[in-house]
Amino acid sequence: MIKIIYSILCCLFFISCTKEYYFQPGEVWPDNHGVHINAHGGGILYDNGVYYWFGEHKVEGSIGNTAQVGVHCYSSTDLYKWKDEGIALSVAPEGSGSDIEKGCVLERPKVIYNANTRKYIMWFHLEPKGMGYSGAKSGVAVSEKPTGPYQFIHSFRPNAGHWPMNVLDIHITRPVPSSGEQFSGGSLPAPPDSLNLLGRDMKGGQMARDMNLFVDDDGKAYHIYSSEENSTLHISLLSDDYTRYVGKYKRLFVGRHMEAAAMFKRKGKYYLIMSGCTGWEPNAARSAVADAPFGEWKELGNPCKGKDAEWTFYSQSCYVLPVQGCNDCYIYMGDRWCPKNPIDGRYVWLPIQFEGDSFIIEWKDRWSLETL
Ligand code: DGJ
Repeated sequence: MIKIIYSILCCLFFISCTKEYYFQPGEVWPDNHGVHINAHGGGILYDNGVYYWFGEHKVEGSIGNTAQVGVHCYSSTDLYKWKDEGIALSVAPEGSGSDIEKGCVLERPKVIYNANTRKYIMWFHLEPKGMGYSGAKSGVAVSEKPTGPYQFIHSFRPNAGHWPMNVLDIHITRPVPSSGEQFSGGSLPAPPDSLNLLGRDMKGGQMARDMNLFVDDDGKAYHIYSSEENSTLHISLLSDDYTRYVGKYKRLFVGRHMEAAAMFKRKGKYYLIMSGCTGWEPNAARSAVADAPFGEWKELGNPCKGKDAEWTFYSQSCYVLPVQGCNDCYIYMGDRWCPKNPIDGRYVWLPIQFEGDSFIIEWKDRWSLETL
C-alpha cells in the first residue's frame, strides 16, 4: 500500500514538474487567485530575481478608465505565473484635493530602481480629476520596497523654463497660441511648429501624456512621452535620484503624432516601438533605431508582419521586456483595450525577432520562452 501511495505521489510530482506553460496573446490571463490580471498600460521591473508587473487597475463600466483604485502590482519568477501583490499605489480619497484623487486619470505607470537612493521610483501620466486630458502632467511616487506602498511625491509638467536641445529660432521668435486655446491630439489645424506649441508651453512646462521610462547601462534614466498635443515625442534626462527633470530634453519625430512609446537597447543600439494616435482604437505600430537615447533617431516603419499587422494585432505597445538570462530575448508587451468594459482589456505579449539593425513582430496564438 505504501508503495502504491509513493508511486502516485511521484507521478503527481512528475506531472507538476513537466506542466507546460505558454503565453496566449489576447486571452484571459489568470493570476494566482484565478482572476484576470488587472495591470493595464503596464511595465515590468526586474529586481533580485523577480519580475514585478505594474499597471493600471481598471474597473467595470464607463468609469473604468479613470483611476478608482490605483496601480496594481504582480510578481513572477517565470513570466507565465503571476502572483497578486495588491495595490502598489493607491488613489487618494474623493474630496481630498490630492493630485491623485480617486477619479483622476492615472495611466501607463512604470517603476525603476535607483541604486543611489535605494528607492523604487514610479512615474505615471496624470490627468487631475475633472480636467479631461488637458492636464498632461507627470506624476512621481516612491517606495522602499518594489511592491510598495508607494508614496505620491509630486506632479508637474516637464522642463518648465527650458528649451530642448534641438530648439529652432522660430520657437523663440514666433507668436504662440493664446492661452486657453486647446487642440485635441491627432487633429491639429496646422503643423506643431507653425502653431508653436513648444513655445506656448515653454514657461509652464511641456505636455506629457503617454509615457515610458528607460534606464541605460550607465545608470542614466530617461522619460519619453507624447508632448505638444500628442504631435511630437519628447525624451528627457532625469535627475540622479530619478524623481525630477534636469532641463535636458529633445524633440523626436516632430509632427508624427505618436503615442505609446516603449524603448529598449540591444547590442549598443536603442530602439523604440510606438503607435499612432487613435484613442482606444488600434492602429499600425511604428519603430525607430538610434545610436544614443537622444538620437538621431531613424524611423523603421511598422515592425508587425502578417495578418492584422496594420492593427498591431489589435493592441497598442506599453513596454518591451528584456528577458533575464536569455541572450537576445525581448518581449513586445501591448494592451488590447476594451473601453466599454476596461477591466476586460487583454494583454498581447509577442516575441521580438531581429533582422540586422531592425526588428519584426509576428502573431502567435500560443508561444513559450523556448521560441526565443
Ligand atoms: C491612447 C493612449 O495610448 C492610452 O494610454 C489612453 O491615453 C487613451 N489613448 C485615451 O484615449
